Amino acid sequence: MLLEAKGVSKRFGGLQALEDVSFSIGKGEIYGLIGPNGAGKTTLFNVLTGVYAADAGAFVFDGASLARHAPHEIARAGIARTFQNIRLFANLSALENVMIGRHARTRAGVVGAVLRTRGTLAEERAIERRSLELLDYVGIRARANDRAGSLPYGDQRRLEIARALATEPRLLALDEPAAGMKPGSGARLRREDRRRCAGAGAARPQGHRSVSRGTACCLR
Ligand SMILES: Nc1ncnc2c1ncn2[C@@H]1O[C@H](COP(=O)(O)OP(=O)(O)OP(=O)(O)O)[C@@H](O)[C@H]1O
Ligand SMILES: [Mg+2]
Repeated sequence: MLLEAKGVSKRFGGLQALEDVSFSIGKGEIYGLIGPNGAGKTTLFNVLTGVYAADAGAFVFDGASLARHAPHEIARAGIARTFQNIRLFANLSALENVMIGRHARTRAGVVGAVLRTRGTLAEERAIERRSLELLDYVGIRARANDRAGSLPYGDQRRLEIARALATEPRLLALDEPAAGMKPGSGARLRREDRRRCAGAGAARPQGHRSVSRGTACCLR
């Protein structure tokens, strides 16, 4: 199993947002979380990615417990996510937003960045090349130099996915990935998702408010 949730619970004051949630996701699987507003889908993602600590239970990722890990440690372990409320650097270009995701995976340290060593410059070019490929993959390469905040909503969602993929995750958690997209463009996302899953051996839990969308997207 790539990810196992074991009895995860989370309470906000008097509100039990998650109660004893257990499930498991295998490698290459697309797993859907479906529930009405306030069901706890986003909270589950927030506990998974270390935004909140669980009150009880734990996630086991590839055999290792994720309990009490900070968000950056969870990203480093290979879990990436998108946000229901898009979080991009609005004043940076689309390309720069993806390159930032890529930097989470690269070695060039502060010294290299300041001295602009040959290795650093080569790495920077490789990051840019790969980031452009990812923009191409989500279908917005033509917008690479546009300010992220100026992109239409659907393209901002695509950009978030490209940025998440730039960290080379083994598990990608998409929170309402098709929200605000036209039905046709959501379908394109699904095809791409499946291809990517099969190709990369990644798994993706997704939060979906609409049952039809969720069941159309997910294999389980
Ligand atoms: N930080 C927080 N503090 C207090 N209550 C919260 C917090 N985050 C979420 N909640 C509450 O927990 C419950 C679950 O919310 P959550 O956002 O996880 O639901 P959701 O399934 O993602 O809903 P939606 O479909 O609207 O995105 C809701 O009642 C929400 O108000
Ligand atoms: Mg939500």
